[in-house]
Amino acid sequence: MDVKQAKITAVGHYLPEFRMTNFELEKLMDTNDEWIRTRTGISERRILKDPDKATAFMGAEAAKEALENAGVDASEIDLVILATVTPDFLFPATACLVQNMIGATNAFAFDLSAACSGFLYAVSTGSMYIESGRAKKVLVIGSDKMSSILDYTDRTTSILFGDGAGAVLLEESNDGTGLIDQIHHTEGDTNCSLYQHAGGSRNPATKETVENRQHYITQDGRAVFKKATMGMADVSLEIMKKNNLEPEDVAWLVPHQANLRIIDATANRMGLSSEKVMININKYGNTTAGTIPLCLYDWKDKLNYGDNLILAAFGGGFTWGAIYLKWGIK
Ligand code: COA
Repeated sequence: MDVKQAKITAVGHYLPEFRMTNFELEKLMDTNDEWIRTRTGISERRILKDPDKATAFMGAEAAKEALENAGVDASEIDLVILATVTPDFLFPATACLVQNMIGATNAFAFDLSAACSGFLYAVSTGSMYIESGRAKKVLVIGSDKMSSILDYTDRTTSILFGDGAGAVLLEESNDGTGLIDQIHHTEGDTNCSLYQHAGGSRNPATKETVENRQHYITQDGRAVFKKATMGMADVSLEIMKKNNLEPEDVAWLVPHQANLRIIDATANRMGLSSEKVMININKYGNTTAGTIPLCLYDWKDKLNYGDNLILAAFGGGFTWGAIYLKWGIK
């Protein structure tokens, strides 16, 4: 089979207007701006207030912007992959709703669940369709309405997350830029360190599950922090070594935005100075599948054609991974 190369040819985003600052959170729970900023790097996050809008809406808006930036009509899309842990419904897949909202009438569509690594797993999956020649244009979307599963009485977790979405268009590359390598890992989390316990087939919704607040995200923050710091740094180094990349060869680290301290530890292990690291956690918090495409969107005007980027993430599952790509937009 003639193996092709996939590259990102456009980026889009969506962020809700409402900014929930740390000071707003101070009114809801026993926390303070100083603690949140110093322990996480977050100052504010966006929250989707409109009760009629959710993950599909944000994903569709991000996708429409990516298509507009690429000058591609939605009818040309072959495949839509949407990464999320906050689907509009358990089924049908949120990607199906987006496919309809954007008018991608010739595309098939499915969701991918890999928590904070969802966007990376989805880019890897989408790239395989391009590389095999089975698809020419693939939309990969990371969208999460985390506020829908946050317990605002739990100060250890609710302060971390925000809502948002990003999308990229993958197309065939014919100039040597694009996705070069990808490494992914999984370690089933039997200790329930990062879970939403109810709402699935194991614990369907009951009066008790609601009363026990089991439909919210819960985590053992310290345990996840340790795992995430090790996982993201290890896999980033692994992909650098595998591709003989020295720190000076890497133009940008595009890290999942879970905690500024996790990002700093990863950059340090990679030997990268802070100027080479995309950070927007201060403005958006952790938007789960949205963080990496939102970084790409925010930095798109600073990226140079041919820049070496390392994308890295760690998330629930546990899932983690890294992608090495050469930026291919001129
Ligand atoms: N405001 C004020 N104090 C808080 C607080 C808050 N929002 N949340 C926790 N605290 C308190 C704790 O109760 C604890 O008090 P104690 O020492 O009296 O018991 C103290 O702050 C330290 O708590 P600890 O959990 O050790 O803090 P931490 O430095 O580990 O930071 C997290 C907590 C959640 C920010 C951090 O562990 C983290 O980022 N984990 C990873 C989470 C993550 O990324 N999850 C998504 C998947 S990628």
